[in-house]
Amino acid sequence: SQKDSLNVLGTTYESDEWTNATPRILSLVGRDLHKNPNHPIGILRSLIENRFQGLGYTMYGDLKPNVSVKENFDVLGFPADHVGRSKSDTYYLNKDHLLRTHTSAHEHECFISCQTPGYFICGDVYRRDEIDRTHYPVFHQMEGARVWKRDDFKNEEELLAKIQSDIDAIPKTDLIVEDVGYDPIENPKQDFMTTKEVDLVSQHLKRTIEVLVDVVFNEAKKAAKLAGSTEEYLNEPLKIRWVEAYFPWTAPSWEIEVWWKGEWLECCGCGNVRKLVLDNSNLDNSIAWAFGIGLDRIAMLLFGIPDIRLFWSLDERFLSQFKQNQISIFKPYSKYPGSVRDISFWLPQNDDGKFLKLHENDLMEIVRENSGDLVESVKLVDEFVHPKTGKHSQTYRVNFQSMDRNITNEEVNVMNDKTRDELVAKFGVQLR
Ligand code: PHE
Repeated sequence: SQKDSLNVLGTTYESDEWTNATPRILSLVGRDLHKNPNHPIGILRSLIENRFQGLGYTMYGDLKPNVSVKENFDVLGFPADHVGRSKSDTYYLNKDHLLRTHTSAHEHECFISCQTPGYFICGDVYRRDEIDRTHYPVFHQMEGARVWKRDDFKNEEELLAKIQSDIDAIPKTDLIVEDVGYDPIENPKQDFMTTKEVDLVSQHLKRTIEVLVDVVFNEAKKAAKLAGSTEEYLNEPLKIRWVEAYFPWTAPSWEIEVWWKGEWLECCGCGNVRKLVLDNSNLDNSIAWAFGIGLDRIAMLLFGIPDIRLFWSLDERFLSQFKQNQISIFKPYSKYPGSVRDISFWLPQNDDGKFLKLHENDLMEIVRENSGDLVESVKLVDEFVHPKTGKHSQTYRVNFQSMDRNITNEEVNVMNDKTRDELVAKFGVQLR
């Protein structure tokens, strides 16, 4: 039998039946957009890090994205059957290793190694997902955490006084805030924390994220005004709301949503860290919070970038527009014509006549491997059951469009034919 292996950033992984990280995805590992000070992702990262510099946070930016299943899921208490663990959602290197799906994969090691009260982690994360203007299989996250060790204080009163003074040290923002608190049944506090501790830790967490959001979105407004926009939202105060959420390693948990151009924008999950995580990180007598914020969608707003693929462009007309510590609105250099192809097929049947499902992310992966960043979006546009034969039909529409150049019809046909052939070969669909 054939033994394959993968090499990711100097580590070799023996392939097995879990391996599904494709050559194209692996080629993006190490691009490190967050480490480029003149790239929108790097600029946004610095904007955030600069705001929290000198406030007791260690900044981690060099942690590699190839991690173990243990780090990404197990130590965080993900149940065995959590969808996040499935091969259809995650890029596995093999059964024990994967490309991190979130920067929370490093909470455990950073809680252990960190010598300051808190830390930030910035890194690229990988998820199998649909293809459209706001989804890309690689994006970036910033993780934050803050710990208070009970052993550092004489008694509970002193601990609470310290957290309160840490809260008081956080500058006030002009945000309009809507906060629901937490539901004792659906989103309960943990027994090892007192009500007062949860109250104060949560306040510190929320005020911290509000400062982050305030800085970032006010910069976005400034940049838009500078670029000549006079839209009304630019003069309104920023509005946010806290909604309850669930994460296996925090309780209670929330998500912050920001009101932006007439929409609630989900941008950051967070909560009080669960005892399990603290205990297995040598912090058994401590309380802490953690959050994780996605950078790419925010950078799209900040820099006026219409399509997430642009972040990966190597075109000088893109790259030359951005300079260290400056937020500037992207000037499109051209709009190249697109090209559309529909792919219609009958879903495969097994021997008993049962229809097999084709996971949408598997189809996306085939398109991505064959067409890379020349695909703008893939959408299921039609689905029906044949009234006589009972066969299931699906039609996917693939929109081709390059951000950097013209693509020819021949080029599109070659890519599309490959995709069609592979759908037949790998999933047994019957093309119509
Ligand atoms: N890792 C979570 C995500 O990717 C965000 C999160 C981080 C939530 C830390 C809670 C605590 O959605």
